[in-house]
Amino acid sequence: MLDRIELSSCTRCALSRTRQRVVIGSGPQGPALMVVGEAPGRTEDEGGEPFIGPSGQLLFRLLEEEVGLTRAQCFVTNVVKCRPPNNRAPKREELEACRPWFDAQLDDVRPGAVLALGNTAARSVFGYERGIGTTHGLVVRLAGGPGLATYHPAAALRGGSRVVEVMRADLRILKSLVAPS
Ligand code: URA
Repeated sequence: MLDRIELSSCTRCALSRTRQRVVIGSGPQGPALMVVGEAPGRTEDEGGEPFIGPSGQLLFRLLEEEVGLTRAQCFVTNVVKCRPPNNRAPKREELEACRPWFDAQLDDVRPGAVLALGNTAARSVFGYERGIGTTHGLVVRLAGGPGLATYHPAAALRGGSRVVEVMRADLRILKSLVAPS
C-alpha cells in the first residue's frame, strides 16, 4: 500500500534536493482510467498536483472530447514524483528510485485502464523499448486491464495540430477500452 506520508518526504534520489514538493497524484480509487505522465513541471512543483499547467489543460480537453472522461473521473499521476531541474528528462536512477512508489500506487488505485503520456511514461509503464513514434496507439494487456500510450501533451503544444490529431486518434482507441461510467 502506498504510504503517502512517507512518499511526501522521500529522499531516495537527488531530485529531493531541488524539488519544492513531492507531487503524488490524485483521483478516485477504482477509476475508469489512470493517466500517467513523466514528471512534474514547474507549475506542478509549486502547486502540488500533476498536470495543472498548459499541458494538462490540453490533455483534459482532448480526453473529455474524445473519451468522454473528465479529470475528476481519472486518477492522475507521473512515473517520477519530483520535478527534474529545468524539466530535463528523468535519469535512469531517478526512474528506478521512484518505481516502487508508482507500482504501489497502481496496485492501490486499481484503474480499469492506463494511459501513458510520452516516451518516458510509455517505456516505464509498459516496458517498451521502441519510441513513442511506433508505440503510440497500440493496446497493451496488463494484468489489471488494458493500457495505451500516446504523445505527451507538451509535444502537442510544441508540434501543433499534426500531433494533436494523432493524439485524438489514439484517444479514440482508448475510448473503446474504457468502461462507460
Ligand atoms: N508533464 C508531466 O509529465 N507531468 C506533469 O504533471 C506536468 C507536465
